[in-house]
Amino acid sequence: MHPINITIARESDTETFSIASTKAITLLAALYEIKATLDPMLTFGAGCRSGICGSCAVLVNGKEQLACSYRYQDGDHIAPLRYHPVLRDLKVDKTYALDTLTKILSEYLTPDPIAVPSPKEEAQTKVQTDCILCDSCYSACPVLAVNPDFLGPFALTRAWRYLANSPKENNPQDCTDNNASLLTPHSSLLDAVQTHGIWDCTLCGECTAACPQGIDPKTDILMLRGVSGKAGYSDPNFGNMDFGTPSFGTPDFGVGFSRSSSRYRHKHGNEPCH
Ligand code: SF4
Ligand code: SF4
Ligand code: FES
Repeated sequence: MHPINITIARESDTETFSIASTKAITLLAALYEIKATLDPMLTFGAGCRSGICGSCAVLVNGKEQLACSYRYQDGDHIAPLRYHPVLRDLKVDKTYALDTLTKILSEYLTPDPIAVPSPKEEAQTKVQTDCILCDSCYSACPVLAVNPDFLGPFALTRAWRYLANSPKENNPQDCTDNNASLLTPHSSLLDAVQTHGIWDCTLCGECTAACPQGIDPKTDILMLRGVSGKAGYSDPNFGNMDFGTPSFGTPDFGVGFSRSSSRYRHKHGNEPCH
């Protein structure tokens, strides 16, 4: 049987290893075999070996894969995830990416002992609870190449999950639609996703394609945009955009508005419901 060659990014170079054994079927098993028989210094992330812990995600030929699920092929090129500091070989530091979740959580974890979502609310975001924090979506997101402060797909997906699961208060002023009531308990969470968040996403869908758990951050971001729009937010970049139109004087269309703006107060202030 011919050996199978895989090339692994190492520091500033690459190295090709030939694997003769037929026992190693998954890429992770192949990495363990290389470490055991060819190079004990090879470093990579791994844990459960069964697609649960998310620690083995790498790039295979430029696409995110869980090494413990991927069946390697001759000629594969393996590299660490994008937008993460590389600790060594395929092992990356996920601290900064996880910090995006901290920003969301800090807006969510307010003391509320009776804040229990209903089964219907939980069912709306059941798939998002399957996130294994593998960072594949983060690595696939092109916005992070130009904006390192972008909250990123899994943090925004988590924000939508928390917002959709937030228990709704019986607000007599909530006469518009169901989504408006999402604002009631955790409006600061909606605030937190406006800057470097939902409006910076290009809706390219790369995050959705990369997710091994079938989670769809792109759609969750669209849902957050919908709720934000109904709450009176708009893209804060809109006022700065140049559409190439000729100028006929100096009309002031203003910049994006927020919950503190007059439009928001007009819509959500003490206005009676009709
Ligand atoms: S859809 Fe948005 S969050 Fe997802 S990869 Fe594209 S730009 Fe990033
Ligand atoms: S949303 Fe999917 S791709 Fe992103 S971290 Fe969670 S499991 Fe991984
Ligand atoms: S080793 Fe846990 S997901 Fe691959």
